Amino acid sequence: MAEKKEKFYITTPIYYTNGLPHIGHTYTTVVADMLRRYKRMRGYDVVMTTGTDEHGVNVERAAKNAEIPESEFVARMAEAWRTLWDELGLTADEFVRTTDLKHVRTVQWLFRLCKENGYVYKGHYTGLYCIYDNAYVSEPKPGNLCPDCERPLETVTEENYFFKLSAFQKPLLDFYRKFPDFIQPETRKNEIVSFVEGGLKDLSITRTTIRWGIPVPGEEPHVFYVWFDALAAYLSAVGGPEYEKRGMWPADVHLVGKDIIRFHTVYWPAFLMAAMLPPPKQVWAHGWFLMDAAKMSKSKGNVVLPRPIVNMLGMDALRYFLLREVVFGQDGNFSYDALVTRYNSDLANGLGNLASRTAAMLERNFAGQVPTPGARLPQDDALARDTQQAIGEVLERYDKFEFARALEAIWAVIAAADKYLTTEQPWALGDSSDEQTRKATILWTSAELLRIVTALAHPVLPESTAKVWKMLGYSAPVAAVELDGLRWGQLAPGTSLGKFQALFPRVEKTEAIERIEAMANEELNPPKTAASTAAAASHLPAAGGAAASAAGASERIAIEDFAKVEMRVGQVKTAERIVGADKLLKLTVDIGSEIRQICAGIAQYYEPEALIGRKVVVVVNLAPRKLRGVESNGMIVAASVGPEGRPVLAGFQEDVEVGARLK
Ligand code: MSP
Repeated sequence: MAEKKEKFYITTPIYYTNGLPHIGHTYTTVVADMLRRYKRMRGYDVVMTTGTDEHGVNVERAAKNAEIPESEFVARMAEAWRTLWDELGLTADEFVRTTDLKHVRTVQWLFRLCKENGYVYKGHYTGLYCIYDNAYVSEPKPGNLCPDCERPLETVTEENYFFKLSAFQKPLLDFYRKFPDFIQPETRKNEIVSFVEGGLKDLSITRTTIRWGIPVPGEEPHVFYVWFDALAAYLSAVGGPEYEKRGMWPADVHLVGKDIIRFHTVYWPAFLMAAMLPPPKQVWAHGWFLMDAAKMSKSKGNVVLPRPIVNMLGMDALRYFLLREVVFGQDGNFSYDALVTRYNSDLANGLGNLASRTAAMLERNFAGQVPTPGARLPQDDALARDTQQAIGEVLERYDKFEFARALEAIWAVIAAADKYLTTEQPWALGDSSDEQTRKATILWTSAELLRIVTALAHPVLPESTAKVWKMLGYSAPVAAVELDGLRWGQLAPGTSLGKFQALFPRVEKTEAIERIEAMANEELNPPKTAASTAAAASHLPAAGGAAASAAGASERIAIEDFAKVEMRVGQVKTAERIVGADKLLKLTVDIGSEIRQICAGIAQYYEPEALIGRKVVVVVNLAPRKLRGVESNGMIVAASVGPEGRPVLAGFQEDVEVGARLK
């Protein structure tokens, strides 16, 4: 019987539903996904969870603005978060919503345990309260004014349940001493220890002034206040009251941003100790990605969105950048310039180039098979030794959460391979049997190095390494590689190689940045439709676009309406694919009076070369717009055929003059 695997449970914070994900949130989730893949390749049974934090005054307020019930508001937002994670390939094993029944039960159960053990009592909370915003204010504006609406605040006293946090000063300090790795990185640990040493005040964990929350059973109108509710999501994700059955609790690592470390390293272990449940093993706090030296926020207008970057450069490029650019644990600056520079230098010229060179030479010289190497020269041995050593180093760096260093070590091997090929010049060797054998040795060596690099980089670059793995002739996925068994020398001669797919096409920096920014702009300021206007007012994704357009389909229009559409015969002059937009072709089309640039969503059905010279129908009086960041000035008319809507270009059986109007 196979040995039972050791478990590893990773969490991301559960994200607030009063906003939508930007690069900061994507960062935490990318790290969690990368760790999940890495730990699986080290033989662990891994679970990674994420979710949405859906209660509280902010949601109450946002739902009111959107004029919909809170439940509908959070359902739409949770869907938007979930969909984005799916799109980015970051689907968690469990997605918890704090409005899920299983979560509600977990929170109520945790509260009962804390109460039964004597750590919860009823008391009164007094604070400055904004009657208009329905919220306590901890930092009022001078003159006791609300920092949001600037109305005068009132001192309000309400009945609350309190958690006896003060009783946990000593147990927490003992715990930090006993488990010195609990808080990471080290600098954060010192901060927390001095905070706890400074004394802990009891914590109000319920409210009667908020409606949108989990009710305290039998104590209505008390609802749980945000953090007691939110933190419990880590337990509800893996079984809640029945957590022992699932066998995943305690969490092995909670990944969090530095802003929420206190909640995770002080409150959370204290709640669990009070309930006599095992505390998590580790909390790892990463820094922030800053934009122009400030934390991103929608109100400052400096948010960076993940989708446009992924459309342009691919998800692997974004993952690589986030993990390579800053030391995990520290703050870092986000810049498109640095992103595209790294893409071109490390991915296109680095891994991409090594893979395509190796594939092309094996194809050309050994009919697409792994050759049998001959006698080794000292330089072959040196490269083998360095690569073998790198395996150990990379695994150690991953284990210590030094992700940038792990990638640095992998890329040092890639650079060594480039140098090796440049010095050995396999392409300059002739056809004599000695030279053929030497060529075989060199190419086997670089393919073997590529194999090792591919396995090591897989947790960070899942899509592109899967392509290289196929090219190397493996049918089992690269994710199935056991990193503990990875050694130099395992590439079997005679293996038939698969087809090579280009990994990272080089991009022109200015154009790439312009297109990313244009796409971000489209996403932040979508073209106005009735449905999206109401949604935009509340930062809410619009629902049900399809229904609206279907309703209008059978309506008839007057001839004057039709006459507004100006269609002309055009002739395609040039056609090319667009990096980062699989479905689009960029065409230049002669419409008689001028040459227009037009994007058409036909790339999956028409080869660009076959279109040149072809006469097409062009709608010429459409307002220009950007598609995937590329300007499109007009539209090519096509029939939409079959259930998938395959485009078939409209055309003419007789010769027609370019520029002729269709009526
Ligand atoms: N809902 C709480 C967490 C509850 S966990 C039991 C919350 N949500 S959040 O949506 O505001 O933030 C979630 C995470 O995103 C935090 O870890 C936060 O640090 C991270 N980031 C938000 N902006 C960020 C950057 N600009 N850079 C890096 N991470 C940042 O807090």
